[in-house]
Amino acid sequence: MSSVGVLVTGGAGFIGSNFLHLLAETRPHWKLVNLDVLSYAGNLENLSALEKETNYTFVHGDVGKSEDVGRALDEVGSGPTWVIHFAAESHVDRSIQSALPFVETNVMGVQVLLEECRARGVERFLNVGTDEVYGSLGETGLFTEETPLAPNSPYSASKAAGDFLVRAAFHTHGFPGLITRCSNNYGPYQFPEKLIPLMIANASGDKELPVYGDGKNVRDWLYVRDHCEALLTVLEKGTPGEVYNIGGNNEYPNIRIVRMILEVLEKPESLIRFVTDRPGHDQRYAIDASKIRRELGWEPRFTFEKALPETIAWYRENSEWLENLQSGSYRDYYERQYGARA
Ligand code: NAD
Ligand code: TYD
Repeated sequence: MSSVGVLVTGGAGFIGSNFLHLLAETRPHWKLVNLDVLSYAGNLENLSALEKETNYTFVHGDVGKSEDVGRALDEVGSGPTWVIHFAAESHVDRSIQSALPFVETNVMGVQVLLEECRARGVERFLNVGTDEVYGSLGETGLFTEETPLAPNSPYSASKAAGDFLVRAAFHTHGFPGLITRCSNNYGPYQFPEKLIPLMIANASGDKELPVYGDGKNVRDWLYVRDHCEALLTVLEKGTPGEVYNIGGNNEYPNIRIVRMILEVLEKPESLIRFVTDRPGHDQRYAIDASKIRRELGWEPRFTFEKALPETIAWYRENSEWLENLQSGSYRDYYERQYGARA
């Protein structure tokens, strides 16, 4: 597979940048092209280590603009081309404040990308999805690939629409689309608006930790490296037209996570503030990942007990990365490196 060219969309974000690091390490002969619009969540500092690699190219552009997608596919070249689509508006709270950007990128963006990829004969297309499309669980039960989609937030509704467009391209046009749906990720390079990096950042700075509602909402946490390895497995071995759930059987109520972070950082519980609940807050997510284990042989490798403290250590060791995000100076990186304004 030495001649594969891969277009990664949203590679400057949290999971996309971790995925590009994984490919650079484990698939050194692949040509890597990263198409990213550099929204507030895009941070090219995440990828500074890749800039010296001759098989990596950054293309500044929007998945919702066919000319930008075309430029990125031109960069990949004329050999076999695979696409893995991470680019999205990804934060539920922002979708509650303003849903239109979510529809533009997560719905329109998917269709524009699909049309360009289909016209160019892209050989595999992986849509990186979320378990939130299945809605909310009570105290028992797990999401399987057969669970009906019942999204509750504008974010999850827009992601469900994107999944349906990929499904429709497969059924209507025979387009080789694959879909994954993963539970909540944590690890290096996550934007500090999501629960774990926000709590690490606030606790480190002795700031209050805002816990929504009673803190008893449950999420199923997976280390980002495990997610990326699962995605690579699906990209290489998955069957087009199929959906694969990804998760690590690792459920925790939010308040437990917050307390664990405080304990590792040796900070007092008095920093916790219970605040007004998120509107429409899903109670529980939990993934049944038996299909990907059974059919593709993927297993998570990292335990929460080990990877959460390592993640906390990463944020402490990379305090400059966090400071650049907090000050906004990360947004100048593109201009400094590439000589143009993002
Ligand atoms: P993120 O918000 O950290 O990164 C998103 C990236 O997409 C950023 O680099 C941003 O600049 C880019 N982007 C946004 N709009 C774009 C556009 N129109 N054109 C090109 N680039 C654009 O997100 P993330 O947490 O890394 O999530 C990546 C994907 O994984 C998303 O599709 C998300 O729905 C999915 N997902 C995330 C999680 C999680 O826990 N974070 C879990 C399951 C699935
Ligand atoms: P988040 O990281 O936003 O992921 P998602 O909503 O996509 O699952 O939130 C994870 C959980 O943490 C969710 O139940 C909401 C809760 N939460 C808080 O209690 N306080 C916060 O400041 C944030 C950002 C989230």
